[in-house]
Amino acid sequence: MENLGTSRYEQEKRLLHGGDYNPDQWLKYPSILADDIAFMQKVRANAFSVGIFAWSALEPSEGNFNFGWLDKIIEDIAKIDGNIILATPSGARPAWLSSAYPEVLRVNARREKMLHGGRHNHCFSSPAYREKVGIINTKLAERYGNHPALLMWHISNEYGGECHCELCQANFRRWLVEKYGNIDSLNDAYWSAFWSHTYNDFSQIESPSPIGESGLHCLTLDWKRFVSDQTIDFYRHEIAPLRKITPNVPITTNFMGEVPNPHPFAGLDYAKFAKEVDIISWDAYPRWHNDYETTEFLASKLAFLNDYFRTLKDKPFLILESTPSMVNWHPVNKAKRPGMHMLSSMACLAHGSDAVMYFQWRKSRGSSEKLHGAVVDHDNSVENRVFKDVQELGEAMEKIAEIKSSATPAKVAILYDVENLWALSDAQGFHGGANYNDKKYPETMLAHYRAFWKRNIPVDVITKDKDLTKYDLVVAPMLYMTDAALMEKMAAYVADGGRLVATYMLGVADENDLVHLGGFPQVLRDVFGIRVTETDVLYPKDRNGVAFGEKQYEAFDYCAIVETHGAKVLGTYTHDFYSDSPAVTGHKYGEGAAYFIGARTNEDFLGDFYAVFVQNSSPIIAQEGVSVQVRENDGHTYYFVMNFTEEVKHITTEAALEDMLAGQMMQSGAYEMKPYGVYIMKQTKL
Ligand code: GAL
Repeated sequence: MENLGTSRYEQEKRLLHGGDYNPDQWLKYPSILADDIAFMQKVRANAFSVGIFAWSALEPSEGNFNFGWLDKIIEDIAKIDGNIILATPSGARPAWLSSAYPEVLRVNARREKMLHGGRHNHCFSSPAYREKVGIINTKLAERYGNHPALLMWHISNEYGGECHCELCQANFRRWLVEKYGNIDSLNDAYWSAFWSHTYNDFSQIESPSPIGESGLHCLTLDWKRFVSDQTIDFYRHEIAPLRKITPNVPITTNFMGEVPNPHPFAGLDYAKFAKEVDIISWDAYPRWHNDYETTEFLASKLAFLNDYFRTLKDKPFLILESTPSMVNWHPVNKAKRPGMHMLSSMACLAHGSDAVMYFQWRKSRGSSEKLHGAVVDHDNSVENRVFKDVQELGEAMEKIAEIKSSATPAKVAILYDVENLWALSDAQGFHGGANYNDKKYPETMLAHYRAFWKRNIPVDVITKDKDLTKYDLVVAPMLYMTDAALMEKMAAYVADGGRLVATYMLGVADENDLVHLGGFPQVLRDVFGIRVTETDVLYPKDRNGVAFGEKQYEAFDYCAIVETHGAKVLGTYTHDFYSDSPAVTGHKYGEGAAYFIGARTNEDFLGDFYAVFVQNSSPIIAQEGVSVQVRENDGHTYYFVMNFTEEVKHITTEAALEDMLAGQMMQSGAYEMKPYGVYIMKQTKL
């Protein structure tokens, strides 16, 4: 968008605090709606996403609109100086729409037509759906576009999923014709002579299916690319009237992240999608206090995702949904322990969020989310623990409001590529069958990420379209899929003085998931000074070792066997037929250097390996389990110091810093942090 600078969003000085508000569920309860407005002020909430699933309330029957209730809600929120994040309602449809236009219902990969119900269950190709969405979006923009409380648009809800109906098949074929021009080129890219899968004509192509084609990996890749493009195309259709009528109102759509693995939602290429939105937002639901990992470990997963979403547009993002207490869809829906709401929210602000928003403001009374946490519980009490936690956070966010728009100064980048995840998920080989979880790409990203996070070094999680030159170090774990452009980009980065680290599985296939002929690609041989000749795959209990420096480290899962062609051997294998051969190498190339880690290792190795690459200039020295994250603007540096453990921890500050939450100076010295404790410390730049 052109005029973001003049928007209410840019002028808003507060961090956003609020959430999904569904007054459309409570229209028969005016006293509840009145309580809501009073309670919002109590918790210092200032932003509400309204209308997300309100289509039935806005258009109860085809062509009959009812905006009266929304007018009142918007006025009431405006009166308390609140912001409106107005949603387009396409995430769920009224029943009349499905009955009048059955084409809007999705068909799944098994070619079964879905029934009306649920949500996010519509075909992105359907002209009828597009038409109806276009009408309601236009009406919303015309009616509320000039409202002074309108902060931004919230488009649909968590776009995702795919439809395999005939309309989508036709669009997919058109997409393929545009990409390949002729069927021979497609057959070449698909290596379709395999199992006699050669196509004679584009009309024979069907989307991948468990009851049909699933073995042509480039078809699967293309389908995923198409689904992304098609979803983005639908989104473009949604925003067209909004851009026209409200050119100064920024647009977001809530992205998703999967904290267990962790990786961004894998159904869409967010790197592409990010280019179409003004402000990145995502919905974060970590499983705090679970029984299989430490709080510190889980915090690093959340941090990784926050860094990814921030880096998509290299600017602050919004946590558009989180829970103040529990969700209703984790395997165990545990309540946040005292202190965790403050800590988990600050953990997002620390990594670049300018908002803490909730799903949901008020717990719904019935249906599937009636037991999902909310700011206001069924008891309608402002005295309960969760409400008070939210209130405490609201007050804290006001105290640190000046961090809004501040940046994260990262000089280290980790490359995450969703297409690489897609390709690895198809690859039948390495570990397991066709399941990316077996290859552990996201977990490996995290292991490398943690080597920096644990040292409090800021990291950007980049996608492959990003400029590498601004980084001192780029880490690209398990980069199986390397197209020519990416390899050239990496070579240029190193030649110009960059430092690049890659690992086993580097450089196996091209953008069509066709294996590079001739083995390890020449450009990578030049840059890394090695040739990978084989990749050994180990059983889960098998172990090899890596001798590196004075120490030996465990190697497991994958061991790349490497010949050096100019690289220096930094570490060697300790066992098996490739014992003593290179496991870790480094190679000067141009002004820079490229390093290769041949084996999967534990964090101890990664910690020691990266130690020489990074320096921490922070004035805060913290015990393990305490994370120190930085944001900065022209005048100040802000340190978020967070104790992600259940124990008392100690920190030492080497400069006088302002404790923003307590509103007092902290002289240099040692300080105690209670379990889940948080400090936000401000330092004025000289
Ligand atoms: C999100 C969704 C919300 C709500 C929430 C529950 O994925 O966008 O509408 O369902 O989950 O945690």
